[in-house]
Amino acid sequence: MCEDDKEIFIFDTTLRDGEQSPGVSLNSEEKLAIAQQLSKLGVDIIEAGFPIASQGDFKAVQRIAKEVKGPVITALARTDPKDIMAAYEAVKIAKKQRIHTFVATSEIHMQYKLKKTREEVKKMAVEGVRLAKSLVNDVEFSAEDAFRSEIPFLCEVLTQAIEAGATVINIPDTVGYATPAEFGEFIKAVREGIPNISKAVVSVHCHNDLGMAVANSLSAILNGARQIEVAVNGIGERAGNASLEEIVMALYTRKGYLGYATGINTRELYRSSRMVSTLTGMSIQPNKAIVGKNAFAHEAGIHQDGVIKERETYEIMNPEMVGIISNKLVLGKHSGRHALQLQLQKLGYSLEGEVLNKTFTEFKLLADRKKDILDEDLIMLVDSQLIGSEEQIYIFDHLQISSGTNITATSMVGMMVRSELVEEAACAGGPVEATYRAIEKVAKLPVKLESYSISAVTEGKDAQGEVIVHVSMGEDIFMGRGLSVDIIEASARAYINALNKIVRKYPELVKAPENI
Ligand code: KIV
Ligand code: ZN
Repeated sequence: MCEDDKEIFIFDTTLRDGEQSPGVSLNSEEKLAIAQQLSKLGVDIIEAGFPIASQGDFKAVQRIAKEVKGPVITALARTDPKDIMAAYEAVKIAKKQRIHTFVATSEIHMQYKLKKTREEVKKMAVEGVRLAKSLVNDVEFSAEDAFRSEIPFLCEVLTQAIEAGATVINIPDTVGYATPAEFGEFIKAVREGIPNISKAVVSVHCHNDLGMAVANSLSAILNGARQIEVAVNGIGERAGNASLEEIVMALYTRKGYLGYATGINTRELYRSSRMVSTLTGMSIQPNKAIVGKNAFAHEAGIHQDGVIKERETYEIMNPEMVGIISNKLVLGKHSGRHALQLQLQKLGYSLEGEVLNKTFTEFKLLADRKKDILDEDLIMLVDSQLIGSEEQIYIFDHLQISSGTNITATSMVGMMVRSELVEEAACAGGPVEATYRAIEKVAKLPVKLESYSISAVTEGKDAQGEVIVHVSMGEDIFMGRGLSVDIIEASARAYINALNKIVRKYPELVKAPENI
């Protein structure tokens, strides 16, 4: 960014609000990998989690604070001292740390959710910020449901939060109710109603319930907001948050009109998007702006003709700018370790030592089953190493299927359970169901398959299939992902991946192999 560029701070909440998306649950290894990628992407602030929510969240935030260099690391806390202390303990080791505390300021939230008066809420805000400020220099205060709050009261709370030491005041549209011009005016009015506003950065956090989170955030920028809270692929509560890649590319592409820049390395956008999609199991709709499969595809003949003659006839951005890869044939069965390492480097991954060895072994196994290995296959290979990198109780070993038009499908599955091979067979109407029944005979867990989806990783008949499942047990939902050139094997792997997450959370449910 040039010296005279006006900068917008990018606050990424993929690991906090994003992780609140239904069915998403990342382990600490996966969170760390995403945080490292966000740092490479150049975000200014990473909201790493909500430490009071669980021991797992606390540990993951602490690990990110310790290992991820570059961005400010922050954690969320209600104004309760226990929350703030947990957030502090989790981020204190970071070189640049921030505590983010919040309380709701709309009538509906104060009356029904908090059951507090205005005076009580004001006191909670001030005391929360004061405590956080006694621990760290950088304190963000959010007025939850700010957009539905009464402006004079909101301004009073925010003025006092700044007085108590807040360095950033965040004005969320928590329920995604605003429209762009209206939200811009709202931000302007709130800024004008806060006498000490120059002492804090104004931030916005827009939800996408009406599909306007990005537009509302841009309108806020034009009215004085300097920090924008976003998530990769726009994931988050309900319809999600403003999408990081859309905000960044709008600012970049329309710099002449909007006049602001970010410190984001746009060439890392696609990789970040793929990683978040793979690890969360939330696939990207093909027509998603910037990172969707069709975002740069020209279908109509007139468009194709135009692009061939002059790219800018139909392209306002070029795919290389966001790091989209060409997806051409890159490697095959005879490619060596060095060729793999070089190709991965071109894709932005620098792998060495044990990780490279493991990836090379997986690459060779894949090359035995798939002739042409494309860039997308390599990215999947690397991202897949991150999945299930924690101890696995159940490991897929082998599978044998018999199925056809007029016969009952039979599946025999072999799984390692704590280093012992266990085999079970089952019948059903189709091979996936038969396989899942056989796996259930091994694991004996009271689970229910909630959703199943399959997609091809690349083009071509020999493409790998990626299966994503959501499996419920009681109130909990677990995502599982499996990848293979054989789609029944990919289905089995996905189911087993989800079961491993269940028994990691409830280890007492695992049966010893002799009891199976
Ligand atoms: O949507 C919201 O209001 C939030 C706050 C906690 C910032 O996520
Ligand atoms: Zn939110």
